[in-house]
Amino acid sequence: PPLLFSTSKVHFPRTNRHLPQAIIIGVRKCGTRALLEMLFLHPQIQKAAGEVHFFDRDDNYGKGLEWYRRKMPYSFKGQITIEKSPSYFVTPEVPERIRAMNGSVKLLLIVREPVTRAISDYTQLRTHAATASTLINNGTPQLQQQTARTFEELVMRPDGTINESYRPVAISLYHTYMHRWLEVFPREQILIVNGDQLIEDPVPQLRRIENFLGLESRIGRHNFYFNHTKGFYCLRNETSEKCLKESKGRRHPRVSPMVVTKLRKFFNEHNQRFYELVGEDLGWPE
Ligand code: A3P
Repeated sequence: PPLLFSTSKVHFPRTNRHLPQAIIIGVRKCGTRALLEMLFLHPQIQKAAGEVHFFDRDDNYGKGLEWYRRKMPYSFKGQITIEKSPSYFVTPEVPERIRAMNGSVKLLLIVREPVTRAISDYTQLRTHAATASTLINNGTPQLQQQTARTFEELVMRPDGTINESYRPVAISLYHTYMHRWLEVFPREQILIVNGDQLIEDPVPQLRRIENFLGLESRIGRHNFYFNHTKGFYCLRNETSEKCLKESKGRRHPRVSPMVVTKLRKFFNEHNQRFYELVGEDLGWPE
């Protein structure tokens, strides 16, 4: 049969765009992109391109579900459509909006050890700030050296306490967002994915997810090879190989061990609250 033409893309006969049956809701810098790309190795999974930001941006949400559906990829009947927008997790309106679309949608929340996540977040913000200042200064990156504040300066207040309103710290306080999701969705509808283990050894995490999504287990060891230059696993299927882009798996700045210790101590109580909420101990260092 001939290929069907839509307004934008060529697609296979008997495929359609469907609203997602599963959503990666966050947490930013915990491996949301890696998770989506890895799941896409499964023949029963289709992924939306980019980040859709439908539920967290009022202008997008205002365009309605049909707009959202059109952002989804073509899929065969029985395939699962997934999108990821990491800021869903921290945006207050989102849980209720997702429930209004589909009360039985499956939610994936990927988390990392909170101090590592905060440093990763800082590293990304600093990269973006440096790029912006380079552009402003006609390509001369002088200003960036003077303005780039260290992680330690941003995280520690002069009196030695932790600055919990600094975004990279605040977003790592998972329980402060998690409770809202549990007010709207039953616990069984949310799978917590361990982002540190997804880096170390992706297959067991992916097996849990396949199971959660009601899919046959199809992603295995053969889909991964360790790239020593990158320091991360890269992905492969029958036809191609790919590593995530350079901005995924950045080198982190060295952070003073004393500050790391202080942060771990600070997060400990918050981590316990998160474990209690979700009924799972993620075993993060104290
Ligand atoms: P770093 O760049 O700080 O190491 P997100 O996609 O949510 O922004 O998360 C980015 C993080 O994904 C990276 O943070 C990296 O640690 C993690 N990651 C997990 N698996 C990866 C992989 N196979 N390749 C590259 N990065 C991976």
